[in-house]
Amino acid sequence: MAIEQTFVMVKPDGVQRGLMGEIISRFERKGLKLVAARLMQVSRELAEAHYAEHRERPFFSELVQFITSSPVLAMVWEGENAVAVARSLMGKTNPAEAAPGTIRGDFGLTIGMNVVHGSDSPESAAREIQLWFDGETLRYDKSVEVWIR
Ligand code: TYD
Ligand code: MG
Repeated sequence: MAIEQTFVMVKPDGVQRGLMGEIISRFERKGLKLVAARLMQVSRELAEAHYAEHRERPFFSELVQFITSSPVLAMVWEGENAVAVARSLMGKTNPAEAAPGTIRGDFGLTIGMNVVHGSDSPESAAREIQLWFDGETLRYDKSVEVWIR
């Protein structure tokens, strides 16, 4: 069993459109565990570091502009195969191609504003969790029975 952590971000469009709860709910219902979360304004420096792999791409400056335009919800989700599971909940990068039932398929329209980010590999996840949370996540057990009588 491969317990992984993955970095997920609700992008400015998702926050502005009131989709944070919907997105968190989908990850929760899937069975992943939230181990870090922060609603934050992203600096240009952080946005550029986060998307460093795309530095030479034509959409890079627009992407950095978008991510820094308004707050994002940065999160770390944990669970078995969390990286791949999160990507599958999100759907394809281009919302026009993302399947209905996925977050981007249900709520996105254009590639520039595709609502969510999720790490693309365990290596990316480790790098992004370090970058966004200094690698600090919470450890706790999740048990419904204790809280409902
Ligand atoms: P990418 O890492 O390829 O996608 P993903 O978010 O699914 O890992 O690209 C990062 C973001 O850059 C993507 O979510 C949206 C934006 N983007 C564009 O605006 N235009 C493009 O042509 C591509 C490929 C990405
Ligand atoms: Mg990516």
